[in-house]
Amino acid sequence: MRSQTPYASQPLAASKAGPLAGRVRVPGDKSISHRALIFAALASGVSRIRGLLEAADVINTAKAVAALGASVEKVGGEWRVTGRGVGGLREPEAELDFGNSGTGTRLMLGVIAGHDITVRMTGDASLSRRPMGRVLTPLKQMGLQVEGDRDTLPLTVRGSSALVPITYELPVPSAQVKSAILMAGLHAAGETTVIEKEATRDHTERMLRFFGANVRRVVEDGLTHITVTGDAELTGHDVMVPGDPSSAAFLAAAALIVPGSDVTIEGVLVNPTRTGFYLTLQEMGGDVAFLNAREEGGEPIADIRVRYSKLSGVTVPAERAPSMIDEYPVLAVVAAFADGVTRMQGLAELKVKESDRLAATAAGLIANGISAKAEREALIVSGAATVPGGGTVMTHLDHRIAMAFLTMGLAGERPVSVDDATMITTSFPEFRGLMEGLGATFSSPVRKA
Ligand code: S3P
Repeated sequence: MRSQTPYASQPLAASKAGPLAGRVRVPGDKSISHRALIFAALASGVSRIRGLLEAADVINTAKAVAALGASVEKVGGEWRVTGRGVGGLREPEAELDFGNSGTGTRLMLGVIAGHDITVRMTGDASLSRRPMGRVLTPLKQMGLQVEGDRDTLPLTVRGSSALVPITYELPVPSAQVKSAILMAGLHAAGETTVIEKEATRDHTERMLRFFGANVRRVVEDGLTHITVTGDAELTGHDVMVPGDPSSAAFLAAAALIVPGSDVTIEGVLVNPTRTGFYLTLQEMGGDVAFLNAREEGGEPIADIRVRYSKLSGVTVPAERAPSMIDEYPVLAVVAAFADGVTRMQGLAELKVKESDRLAATAAGLIANGISAKAEREALIVSGAATVPGGGTVMTHLDHRIAMAFLTMGLAGERPVSVDDATMITTSFPEFRGLMEGLGATFSSPVRKA
């Protein structure tokens, strides 16, 4: 039976706002938060994590590492994790429920693979539809066993304390798959190499080094080879999690499309494997500046200042997709307010996110009077001088579809509603409060009987 978190859906509407203004901080980066908890659990000794994203997806990872034997506690503003050393986790007493989180599931599959334990993993309806074969294929080559040869959740898997190192070329550009293999590779005797054609986010590599693993990165004939040495020893470290650029994207988009706005988002991660959205906004004519650039905990961060701008449509090249993969729904919303056509290419991966984001984004735009077309791997949006709004968008258990279209409502002629805003808590529980603090207006639409 599928484990599904029961909840009551909550429709929400956003309506035209006056200028948005202020300085805000967004919560910690989701990718780095998952990894910080996992590496801390695999390290010996104590790690203190500050700025951890306290959203459902990450809390499920915290629960998972605790169920596997790490000690996880919140003390004041920091999370303290006492790890069990690489290969030291133990079999959980109950199944692990990853809720809505593909990242938590896939990364933890890599970790579990390196332990001689049996684990049952479950998730909600959206997660149970998402492909796990992409991580199971390489992990099975290393020694993971999967009951019933399934490739979607729920999964029962058995790891091994004698994993075989592999060299694996990623068939899809996926940081989750890369990370799962590198995490398993930590537990294998010898060197495990992942080869990628397109650079994907590199937080795993950075954090592996930070915790003391040996990681090499070599570029050859346009391919990047990332090698981790197995049977590694990690030691506890303190991690400061920077602000999430994927959450900041909604605030940046709102500031660009609501006339007169001027918003600064402080302390945002600006790792170049994550900034494709901001680069695209600049190409569209957006007044987007990275200020006060600095480094914190091995990652580059900056304050991002965004001012309302007249925008023009652009073509976003396929090569840029991995560096902004989570930002296409909100970019499509921005494109609705731009002069001319925006073409976004290389979007095959959007179909296997929390929802089919290619279809859901196009449908949301059309429901609000914008001409949009989803092709096989592309999304084409024709901007309008005024965005009619007035539609209700189906979110399909997808937090980013909900936040993107609520952002649209702030500058549309009529309010934009989403059928369900509850999933926003998976990544950005502060979304509504932060937006309202800047001047946004939301309301709960009356449900039709
Ligand atoms: C993530 C990688 C991306 C992204 C997800 C987080 C990560 O997925 O969509 O939200 O933390 O590694 P893919 O690597 O599967 O594209």
